[in-house]
Amino acid sequence: MREFDFVVIGSGIAGLTFALKAAEHGRVAVITKRKGVDSNTAWAQGGVACVTSGEDSFALHIRDTLEAGAGLCNLEAVETVVREGPERVRELIALGLHFDERDVSGHRELDLGREGGHSKRRVLHVHDMTGFEIETTLLTAVRQSPNVELLENHMAVDLITAAKLGFATEDHCLGAYVLDETSGAVETIRTDRLLLATGGCGKVYLYTTNPDIATGDGVAMAWRAGAAIANMEFVQFHPTCLFHPHAKSFLISEAVRGEGGILRNAKGDDFVARVHPQGSLAPRDVVARAIDAEMKRSGAQCVYLDITQQPRAFLQERFPHIYETCLRHGIDMAKEPIPVVPAAHYQCGGIRTDIDGATSLPGLYAIGEVGCTGLHGANRLASNSLLEGLVIAHRACAALIASRSPAHPSGAVSLPEWQSGDVQNVDELVVIYHNWDEIRRLMWDYVGIVRTDKRLQRASARLRNLQREIQEFYWNFRITVDLLELRNLATVAALIVDSALSRKESRGLHFTLDYPAMNDEAFRRDTLLSRS
Ligand code: SIN
Repeated sequence: MREFDFVVIGSGIAGLTFALKAAEHGRVAVITKRKGVDSNTAWAQGGVACVTSGEDSFALHIRDTLEAGAGLCNLEAVETVVREGPERVRELIALGLHFDERDVSGHRELDLGREGGHSKRRVLHVHDMTGFEIETTLLTAVRQSPNVELLENHMAVDLITAAKLGFATEDHCLGAYVLDETSGAVETIRTDRLLLATGGCGKVYLYTTNPDIATGDGVAMAWRAGAAIANMEFVQFHPTCLFHPHAKSFLISEAVRGEGGILRNAKGDDFVARVHPQGSLAPRDVVARAIDAEMKRSGAQCVYLDITQQPRAFLQERFPHIYETCLRHGIDMAKEPIPVVPAAHYQCGGIRTDIDGATSLPGLYAIGEVGCTGLHGANRLASNSLLEGLVIAHRACAALIASRSPAHPSGAVSLPEWQSGDVQNVDELVVIYHNWDEIRRLMWDYVGIVRTDKRLQRASARLRNLQREIQEFYWNFRITVDLLELRNLATVAALIVDSALSRKESRGLHFTLDYPAMNDEAFRRDTLLSRS
């Protein structure tokens, strides 16, 4: 058994920010299932929404966030993240991050991007690779910290809790079992302060803008440990993922629409303008639904994002990553519209937490996309998530240091080792891949942008069967990363379906043809699920 003062699972913006701060107070382990850089953060293009300009204000950023959230935002979370954001961004700059600047009457100012739902330009960015620059800046600092041990290629299997071990005390998270992917051994990691920072669950859908690691591991583990899970029905679909047979999961940033890009159908019509006065820059839920409806109406496989009115030199400077990637796929965005489709992008729900990231399970914190502070409500305002990761990571660290909670009484006892029993190697990998594909397709077809009760019930029945089969696999075969991810994916898919079935209205990202209107009287509340 290995013991740490703090254990962080996940190596994106929230996990690494926490690790750096906690390292000033004790020994930290950062557990990450691939390489350190493999995170949702590294794929974020848009940037960090933050009030930095004299033309902007906290009140406006708060108002835009609440409007996008469709009545479900937690006001305390919104105010805290918006107001504390600038200080956290300054810390990032002090670590060496250079956000893009521009010349204004002879002096340099931050170059602020615009995205859907924002009433002002307020998105700090590094070209169109903001997340990657943040990720590498934080990773460099973490790797230099003598108090942080970065355990790459280690995947958490499950949380260890006092209740699971039979302690007759208040339940408490005591650590985690972690699979060392190189040796195949499962290690016992002990801590009184465990932070989940595992990101979201985009891979639960067939089409996603997320990297392969986004398999909902944190939510699934917290659910199995008995923590409360909130608002999983609110999955954000990004309107513009590149549509090309060889371009898996490539996002075309909303910032392209912020710079004047217009969505058009094959005939060249600006079809979003027909459904919303802000047209292509309307909030994401509106744009994604308009595309879905247009594709269903016309039978087309994609729509087009037209930014050809901007000069080539501007596109190359502002969107170098998108420009080059499109060109590699034979699309010259300066001359022709980019074919795009909506794809699963962000999990607005997650493990229910307070404004410091504390979950309902003592000793367990959840920060970043995996947690649900209530900032996003029923629909996340673009580029608010990196900001939330910074603010909540800082607050979680401050809260843990301030509380100086005594070690759990079980701390004196050695935790039991992982019992693998009499297991064999998986004999037929095809079963894992088949189940994986089936979940992702059924979620796309039945639990997508537009839902109905009938489709949700169908999905629910299928998922129960799949979960039974996966559970059998889990007990009878030696665990592997693929099997663990499949098990987590199935759990999170079922949580999304159960949450969606319980919300008999349409609000924000949850739209159902059976209840197309918002019903404030009955449903202006969070959806809470808990095993206990
Ligand atoms: C984008 O660049 O469009 C993504 C920004 C975000 O999802 O916040």
